[in-house]
This record gives sequence, structure tokens and C-alpha cells, in this order.
Amino acid sequence: MNRADFLRLAAAAVAAGISPAARTQAPEDPSMQRRPIPSSGEPLPVIGCGTWRGFDARAGQRGQLREVLRVLFEGGGSVVDSSPMYGAAEAAVGELLSSMDAHEQAFLATKVWTRGRDAGIRQMDQSFALLRDEVVDLMQIHNLLDWRAHLTTLRDWKAEGRIRYLGITHYTDSAHDDLEAAIRSEPVDFVQLNYAIDDRGAENRLLPLAAERGVAVMVNRPFGGGGLLRRLSRRALPSWASELNCASWAQVLLKFILAHPAVTCVIPGTGNPAHMRDNVAAGYEPFPDAAGLRRMIAELQI
Ligand SMILES: NC(=O)c1ccc[n+]([C@@H]2O[C@H](COP(=O)([O-])OP(=O)(O)OC[C@H]3O[C@@H](n4cnc5c(N)ncnc54)[C@H](OP(=O)(O)O)[C@@H]3O)[C@@H](O)[C@H]2O)c1
Repeated sequence: MNRADFLRLAAAAVAAGISPAARTQAPEDPSMQRRPIPSSGEPLPVIGCGTWRGFDARAGQRGQLREVLRVLFEGGGSVVDSSPMYGAAEAAVGELLSSMDAHEQAFLATKVWTRGRDAGIRQMDQSFALLRDEVVDLMQIHNLLDWRAHLTTLRDWKAEGRIRYLGITHYTDSAHDDLEAAIRSEPVDFVQLNYAIDDRGAENRLLPLAAERGVAVMVNRPFGGGGLLRRLSRRALPSWASELNCASWAQVLLKFILAHPAVTCVIPGTGNPAHMRDNVAAGYEPFPDAAGLRRMIAELQI
């Protein structure tokens, strides 16, 4: 895109009431890559932060988590993924965003994780209170638990503006058939799923289906919960990593995921500011091409 194209798109974005900075990106713009959410066109930064374990922290540890969020936002990220399943994580996110006056910078994603319509409503009401926001950007049905019951509520709330997007999640290949069936039967904005260089089952049908149906893909467990990174840390970083501007295994693994065209964003989990800084750096070009991906898979022998 040349500068004239950029300005034309920016003008169109203004006419549509959308911030040009958020909507379009000039080639010389050094900020984190953004990809459009297919159901709206809204651009979403490609690296976010998962809060399982890392944000389930006591009040005394909140200073470190505040730094995690600061690093995420400073690096151009916005997605923060939580769940009522993650202990004190929603409360930590809400308290920190309030104290940082940063709700506007966050794309807040959380989940409903219970059975029954009324229990779901009570749980989600509590999430709004803990997150200290009147609007949740993305409400997801955690592990597809009682998903048909909750989907009705989510549709109503999206129409009312309480949530901006709705989605479904899982984290194991054994649930991919169910995710696929749900996407085929009901329109959803997002699917959150497991995908990593050693966990590529989603490539078979789910990622192509998401692309075909216009469903945004949020990738969880990019490091296999941390185990994949620990295994790789015993190995020297390959010479080709520098061609991708990767200074760590974490960045190699995140760029592998982001090379898939169906992927919208990835949410590595961390409560460590240095790790967040490391992860954020993977959101910038270049990303591997097809030959680079083949080399990664072959050389890593996973
Ligand atoms: N069903 C679902 O909806 C579902 C299921 C699973 C996960 N999720 C979401 O997806 C997110 C990601 O999955 P996950 O947290 O299970 O696994 P993950 O992102 O694959 O791995 C997280 C682990 O990697 C470590 N880590 C992160 N960045 C690192 C870095 N740059 N260098 C070294 N270590 C690093 C973290 O430790 P430190 O804290 O020390 O950095 C943590 O132990 C979750 O946090 C959650 O938000 C959703």
C-alpha cells in the first residue's frame, strides 16, 4: 500500500467513524501487526496476553502484573484473555486496568464457564463487575460448556451492546470436531483453539473452516503450556531465527503460529513482564513464508 492508498483508506475509515490509526497501517508504521476481525473489519493486534495461572495472583504481586499490561500496551498489543476459571485473574485485570486508567487500551476477552442459562448470566454479570467494565469486547463459551444455552444470552447481549463479539473456545484436539460442528451450525465471531508448532491438528479442518466462514481465530497454548519452550530451551537458536528478527524460542514459536493466514491473534500466557516483552516482539514483521515454515518443522523435528 502506498501513501496515497493509505490516506484514501484513512479518509474512508474516518467517514465510517473508525479511527484511521486503528483501521489502517502505513508500510513505514513500526507498530505491531494488526489483522482484521472478519465479522467487523476491526483490526486486532496479533500478540495478546493470556491470564491463566500468571494473573491468578495475590494482591502483593499486582505490581508485576501491572508491568505486564504496561509492556503489552506499550508494544502495541491490546488483547487480554481471562476466564472465571482462572481464580483471581479477572479481578486482577479489572483492578489493574482501573488503576492504570487503561480500559480503553484493552481488548477484554473473558468467558462463561458453567451450566445453565441463569447460572451463566450470574457468572457473566460477576465478570463485568470484576473486570470493572460495562462492555466486554469478547465473551467466549469456555470449553463449549453448555454452549447452546449461553449462545442465546450472548446473542441478546451483543444486540444490546453489552458485548462486542461472541466466541467459543477449547484447548484440545479431541474437541476440534465439536468446535467444527458449532461453527457450522451457528455464526460466531471468534473461535479460540490450541495451535502450536508441535500441535498442528487445527490445520486439518478448523483453521480452513474459520477462514472460509469468516471467524476470527485466537490461538491459545502457543508454548504447550510452557513445556514446549522448556524442551527447546536446551537447544541453541538456529541461525535462520535472525532472518525473522527472532531473538528467542518464544518469538520463533509465536511467528510460526502467526504465519498461518487464518490466525487473527495469539495469546501466550504470562505473568512475567520480561516474558511479555519477549512475546510482544514477535508481533512485528517479518513472518515466515511457506519455505520457512517447512524448514522450521523439519529442523525442529516436532
Ligand atoms: N479452554 C480455554 O479457553 C483455554 C485453555 C487454555 C488456555 N487458554 C488461554 O490461553 C492462554 C495461553 O495458554 P497457556 O497459558 O495455557 O499456555 P502457553 O501460553 O502455551 O504457556 C504459558 C507458559 O509459558 C511461559 N511463558 C510465556 N512467555 C514466555 C517467554 N517469552 N519465555 C519463557 N516462558 C514463557 C509462562 O510462564 P511465565 O508466567 O513465567 O511467563 C507459562 O508457564 C491462557 O493463559 C489462557 O488465557 C484458554
